[in-house]
This record gives sequence, structure tokens and C-alpha cells, in this order.
Amino acid sequence: MLLAGVIFSASTADNASAQNFSANDAKVSALLAQMTLDEKIGQMVQVDSGALAGNNDVAKYYLGSVLSGGSSDPAAGNSPVAWLDLVNGLKAQALTTRLKIPLLYGIDAVHGHNNIEGAVIFPHHIGLGATHDPKLIARAEQVTAAEVAGTGVRWAFAPCIAVPQDEHWGRTYEGYSDNTALVSALGVAAVKGFQGEALSASPVSVLACAKHFIGDGGTQNGKDQGNDVCDEATLRKLFLPPYQAAIKAGVGSIMVSYSSWNGEKMHGNKYLLTDVLKGELGFNGLLVSDWAAIDQINPDFKLDVAQSINAGLDMIMIPYGSGHANNYIEFIDDLKALVAEGKVSPARIDDAVARILRIKFQMGLFAGDTIDPQLTAAIGSPAHRTIARECVRESLVLLKNENHALPLSKTIKHLVVVGAAADDLGVQCGGWTIDWQGRKGAVTTGGTTILTAIKQTVSSATEVTYSAAGSDLKAADAIIVVVGEQPYAEMKGDRQDLNLSASDKALIAQAKATGSPVITLLLSGRPLVLDSALADSSAFVAAWLPGTEGEGVADVLFGDAKFTGKLPRMWPLSNDHLSSLDPAKPLFKTGFGLKE
Ligand code: GLC
Repeated sequence: MLLAGVIFSASTADNASAQNFSANDAKVSALLAQMTLDEKIGQMVQVDSGALAGNNDVAKYYLGSVLSGGSSDPAAGNSPVAWLDLVNGLKAQALTTRLKIPLLYGIDAVHGHNNIEGAVIFPHHIGLGATHDPKLIARAEQVTAAEVAGTGVRWAFAPCIAVPQDEHWGRTYEGYSDNTALVSALGVAAVKGFQGEALSASPVSVLACAKHFIGDGGTQNGKDQGNDVCDEATLRKLFLPPYQAAIKAGVGSIMVSYSSWNGEKMHGNKYLLTDVLKGELGFNGLLVSDWAAIDQINPDFKLDVAQSINAGLDMIMIPYGSGHANNYIEFIDDLKALVAEGKVSPARIDDAVARILRIKFQMGLFAGDTIDPQLTAAIGSPAHRTIARECVRESLVLLKNENHALPLSKTIKHLVVVGAAADDLGVQCGGWTIDWQGRKGAVTTGGTTILTAIKQTVSSATEVTYSAAGSDLKAADAIIVVVGEQPYAEMKGDRQDLNLSASDKALIAQAKATGSPVITLLLSGRPLVLDSALADSSAFVAAWLPGTEGEGVADVLFGDAKFTGKLPRMWPLSNDHLSSLDPAKPLFKTGFGLKE
């Protein structure tokens, strides 16, 4: 059988993706021809490392991939070496199988290698969107790729190329912008940063994963994993271009969205996953599910397996092992039965496995992927932090600057800083930091809070007074108020009321009452409804979720760098006008940003 015919049913659309991955077709076909059904199905299964502790199931079930979810850390601790040992141990298991097909390890490196201690944490995508700077984003993801590779991992579940329309959505900050063209440009930059000009055997070429296909940011009321209610023309116009661009840039994997389109779960939508994505757009990389996402298609798991694989999914993320419903052993048994029953064709299995093998050959995994210790040693290096600091500088958006309150002088005599967020690395980093949800307080990855950065920047003659609560606030030469959101990820961040909290507004009003110039910094995953907070501020800066390099904020506050950031999404005037599709007057339009 001419496997090539089976594998490349994709159209001959003129796109880089088809050329990128076809170089190893002969090897893929030869290997595929040797594989048993068990070995093929095993390649289609991705399991969370937490479910593999203490067993040999990578080898026993010929697993093709392992991931570590947002809170799945090595038992030995969260250091780069502990990660390297975990990853290498699971890879070694795969090489004990009959055909020694190497394991592909994936992780959510969505703003740096954010799961591990010591990694540089970059601004979340909404901040990178405010830079409008594709070259910088490519450099940032090159650093992330190097840090990811330093722990033996070669697949990053990034970039998220959602185009969030309604910021009630808890994942708004994972999107670069509400503007489709900007998301396309920055998504391409990120893919190139992770993979290089093309996915290759280079030890720092990390498989990128454009996610979540399609319409994750278009759900009604911004509900996470919710339902896009729109016609096909709107779905294509808003959300397809970033995928077309990423495919042309050679992205090797795409993750499917939990969301639905007009009531149909994306993970079961054959028209969009196969006819559009693989056929019309010519995507011939691998299509992976989201975390236990196929479980949401039907109440019956075996039906989920049939519908998702037949819809076009090539690899299924099944995080759970025995003792949990819908586990990976059940998946394997169900898929074998479905092939025997003729409900999933051998050709579909071969197409899925060929796509997975083609990526592994393209990445040189069969030739072994020993990790350069210098990559591990460079995790969190000053050189890496310098690039993240540049991202922070360029991400800041100046919304107001009355009487040129900014920049501040480094020799200012008395500076007051208030707000717990000023000295909280966890708030600065947001969700997806060390833990899935992130956490406020001192996260264990090392970094510089905004307060520390301010103290390091001003002259020795400057008196800096800090008060988290702003108690007995008195007049000063300037008062910096740092307010914002507490860390969250995914559905935990969905919220109806997007007003800046009353306590934050009160703190700003208290500062204003002293008669001093008030510089307000907002740390948030999305624009918030400001009302009095803007009026009471002399200067107002949207700082988003800047990550570990707080110096980047001080650089701009004190004039070592200019404000260049521009809003990546519109800023709502009120809580009931939040979609960029709604032409009602926003407070600030996408693209707004003062220079001084
Ligand atoms: C999560 C997210 C997805 C992530 C995956 C693995 O639920 O939706 O973005 O890559 O699971 O952690």
C-alpha cells in the first residue's frame, strides 16, 4: 500500500507545512509497516507524568508521549536537574520497547518554562501583545525553547493563538490580542522562536503547538470551554487566519479547543478538524487533544474515542491512569476494539501514527536527543533575564500622564509605594507559574518584585517608604500605587464583574487625597473597569502580568526606557460592554498608548 497516499490526503495547498514534514516519509512508511496495532495505538496516547510514577507503562503500552500538566512536578522536587532526571527516565523506558520509538515530552511553557524553579518567567501573552513586536517575541520564545530543552523537554504547548473577544474569559491573558491580524503576526513569531526557521533536529528546536483550535476565545460571554454561536464566515474571519499563518510558518502541532461551535464539541468536529484544518489548510503535523477533553463529547467514553479519532485527532491527552474513569488503559482497549469492529479504520490509525512519527523523525529524536548540560545550566541566566526585561519594558502601556508625572526622577527625595501587589512575585507572574493556578506571594522561581526594582533604581539619597495597606498615608514627592488581580488560570479566571476592586479604588483615592502625584500601576490579565481609579491617578500604567523581571517596570518609570506599548485589546468603559465586536465606545481603543 502506498502509505504516502494514506498519509498525505491533505490537499496540495501551497504551504510550508507540507514541505516541512515530508522529508522522512520513506522512514515513516518503513517503520509503520513493522508496527503492531498495539504499538501504533500506543503512539497516539499522551499521559500525564503524575499517572506514570512507579510504573513501567511507557514501555508496557508503547506510549508515544508524556506531558507534565500545570501542577505535575517531579517527586524529587522542582529543580531543573529533578526535571531532567524525570524526563530522561521516562524517555529511557520508551527505548526499551521492541522498536525503540523515542518518547515526545510536552509541557505548558506558556510564558517561559513556567513550571520549574529558576526559570525566567516572561510577561503573559497579553503583555507580549502590547509590545506589537514580533522580533522580540521570537527572541523570547527562543529563550523559552532553550530553557525547556535544558530539562530534556522538546514540545511546548504554545503559542496560544486565541483571539479573545470577551474578556470575561479567564484565559484572556493567554491571547495576544482581540485583533486577528496581530495574533497571526505574533503567533508566527512565536512558532519560529520555538522551532527555528523550520522544526529540526537542533537540540533547541522545540515543537510548537498552536492552540486551541478553533474559537477558544469566541465563546458566549467569554465562558471558558463554552460555546461559539456564530456563522461559519464569522468563525473563519476571526479565528482561522492565525492558524493559516502558523501552518505556513511550519507549526508542527495544533491542540484542539475544549469549546464548541454552535453546540458541537470541537473535539468531535470532523468538518473543522479534517476537512478544513488538514484538508483545506493542508496541516500535516500532529493534532493533539486537550486535557481529558474527549470525555466531554459524549457520556460514553468508547463513543468519545471513536468520534475524536474519526474527527481527525491524532494524539489524545489522557492524563489519568487506572483507578480513574476514562483512563489511558481503557482508551487503548476501546480503540483496539473499535478497529476490530470496523468503526475506526486502519487507514485513520496509520495516518495519525504517521503524523506523529514524521514529527519525531523531523526532530531527530530517533538519533537520540542527549541534552547539552550548558542548556540546563543556562536556565534563569542573566542573558535570558535581559530579554525578558526588554519584553516587560515594551509591554507597558501608558494610559494617562497628567503634568508629565512620568518619568520620575531617580533622585526624587521621598517616594511612597503602596499596594500588596508591589512586592508580590506571584501576583506579578499570574497563573501558569510553578503551579497551574499560580499563587500569590513569593513564588519559588526567583525574580525581582516591582518594589525591589524601584529601590534598586533610585538614588541612595531617595527615601522609599513602602506600605502594603497604605496605612497613615501622607504627602510625598510621588506615590506609586500598585493594584490588580490575584493569580488564576483557565475557568478559575472567568468572572462577571470586571470592575477594579473597591479596595484598590479606595487605595488610589487615599493616595490622591494627600495631594501628591499618584502613579497607578495595574497588574492584571485583562483590562478592568476603572471609573474613579483613572480619574484619581496622575499617571496610569497597564503592566499586565510582567513575570519575574520587575526591573523592566522600573526602567520605564524612571526614564531609562520610553513607553512604547500599545493596547493589545480595547479597554471597556463599563462592565456590560466587553466585546470588541460591540462597536459601543470603549474607554480606549486597541492600539492606544501614550508615549510620555
Ligand atoms: C489545559 C489547557 C491547555 C494545556 C493542557 C495541558 O487544560 O487547556 O492549554 O496545554 O491542559 O496542561
